[in-house]
Amino acid sequence: MTQEPETVAVVGGTGDQGFGLALRWAKAGRHVLIGSRVRARAEEAAAKVKAAVGNSARVEGSENADVVARATLVVLSVPFEAQIATLKAVRTAWRPGQILVDLTVPLEASFGGSPTRVLKVWAGSAAEQAAQHVPENISVVGAFHNIGAHALQEIQHEVECDVIVCGDNAEARGRVRPWVEAIPGCRYVDGGKLENARIVESLTALLIGINRRYKVPGAGLRITGLPH
Ligand SMILES: NC(=O)c1ccc[n+]([C@@H]2O[C@H](COP(=O)([O-])OP(=O)(O)OC[C@H]3O[C@@H](n4cnc5c(N)ncnc54)[C@H](OP(=O)(O)O)[C@@H]3O)[C@@H](O)[C@H]2O)c1
Repeated sequence: MTQEPETVAVVGGTGDQGFGLALRWAKAGRHVLIGSRVRARAEEAAAKVKAAVGNSARVEGSENADVVARATLVVLSVPFEAQIATLKAVRTAWRPGQILVDLTVPLEASFGGSPTRVLKVWAGSAAEQAAQHVPENISVVGAFHNIGAHALQEIQHEVECDVIVCGDNAEARGRVRPWVEAIPGCRYVDGGKLENARIVESLTALLIGINRRYKVPGAGLRITGLPH
């Protein structure tokens, strides 16, 4: 049986993707901490969540290190070029048993190039790079790469997308499952070891290209043939 973490922190939750996740989890009644480099920005985002889903939403905003210290599950939602600096800035806030969920997509756009091309990361993937910048007792999982911010923020609609969850610790992958299933339309898919994040991250670049060609805001993906 998987244990459901009580509180999620979304580092960079003031941005498009993190804010979308915060909205969805707050709507599902979860306790959400929005993190920012600037406390006031996080508080403003938390107020926007409440305005969208109702005043009873359990959402707060604070500085990144503070939300990391208070959560059981920490989602890192910053641009690739900010990933290492952000992890260094919160390095002393971690506690044993926490899980880092990294959704960073290393796009060429981070350095002025194309959003439909993936950068080659020395560590193998952005998720593996993240693992090099947290204490050893923190499990790192890659997830939520293939859902677009637009789909997340349209809270009146379901998100039509599977969420492939990769990580070397099977228990940590399982602990992310309830957070996937809290988002209507999302299905958890066990993606196996963390190095598979290399594949999952690159699929986002493909989806961005598909969005462009089909002139749609949020193409997603489904894995077929799995048991129900
Ligand atoms: N947008 C999507 O549809 C989507 C889909 C799948 C995956 N992703 C991934 O999700 C992550 C976040 O995407 P996003 O579109 O939400 O990004 P974003 O809006 O550009 O940035 C998210 C937050 O990161 C912080 N940030 C930005 N630049 C920074 C810097 N140079 N140094 C430190 N912090 C910085 C900011 O928070 P504060 O200023 O408040 O600190 C910002 O609100 C990315 O890695 C992206 O690849 C995005």
